[in-house]
Amino acid sequence: MSSRTITSLGNPTVKAVRALHMRKEREETGLFLAEGLKIVTEAVELGHAPRYLLHGPDAAEHPLTRAAAAMTLAHGGEVLEVNRDILEKVSRKENPQAVVGVFRQTFTPLSDIEPGSAPCWVALEAVRDPGNLGTIIRTADAAGCGGVILVGDCCDPYSVEGVRATMGSIFAVPVARATVEEFLAWRRDWPGSVVGTLLTASVNQHSADYRAPTLILMGNEAQGLPPELAEACDVNVKIPMRGRADSLNLSVATGIMIYAVTDRLL
Ligand SMILES: C[S@@+](CC[C@H](N)C(=O)[O-])C[C@H]1O[C@@H](n2cnc3c(N)ncnc32)[C@H](O)[C@@H]1O
Repeated sequence: MSSRTITSLGNPTVKAVRALHMRKEREETGLFLAEGLKIVTEAVELGHAPRYLLHGPDAAEHPLTRAAAAMTLAHGGEVLEVNRDILEKVSRKENPQAVVGVFRQTFTPLSDIEPGSAPCWVALEAVRDPGNLGTIIRTADAAGCGGVILVGDCCDPYSVEGVRATMGSIFAVPVARATVEEFLAWRRDWPGSVVGTLLTASVNQHSADYRAPTLILMGNEAQGLPPELAEACDVNVKIPMRGRADSLNLSVATGIMIYAVTDRLL
């Protein structure tokens, strides 16, 4: 395996990789960090070649590291062997993963979405917590959803925390972005049900009628779904709240909705 060995935190590539913790840097470069051999292997198997592959000395001979390195080099990327100190700084963790990949971000244009290609899709309005977003992308993958549409001012699906929470599903699930206006215009041609989720809805999600493809629309963690989006849905549903908690965590509510819809439609 042809790789450079780097031991200095001052190395320009190491500095550039560390800078990918910042959203501004990710937006300017179009790159992001994915940590761990499992996630990097997932990416490689799905055809995403790392731009940079960093690994500790102990990981060098692992067959999956070698496969990821071969793909990196074949696509003009760089393979860097680094020490533990660098891996800790790159991951901002005391127990860093032994392999870290830097990949190119991919957003699917809204116009490329083919609603009929999957029974269920998820739209998130102004999601703010990267852990929630990553967990939802992972759940959408697990349940066989077509993709996730980010509406309005959302957190970055390519943040380090978000990518960690996807456990690799960021490479498998198409993610699109839209302003509220773009979403509302695009939604008019949606061929199936558009289902909003509201704590104040009178329809229980169990009794709603879902037509494929169903687009589930989830609201922001603090404010919930704004009226203009709730009104644009065919139906708004609630998940029964039987105890003292006044709402569910966004990613939990999305998981319940995704499985309710896919169980009904598949
Ligand atoms: C934490 S909740 C928002 C709470 C917010 N204070 C409100 O009044 O809507 C975040 C999102 O999760 C979904 N959600 C949470 N609990 C729900 C429930 N019981 N029924 C339907 N949707 C729910 C909705 O999409 C909501 O916008």
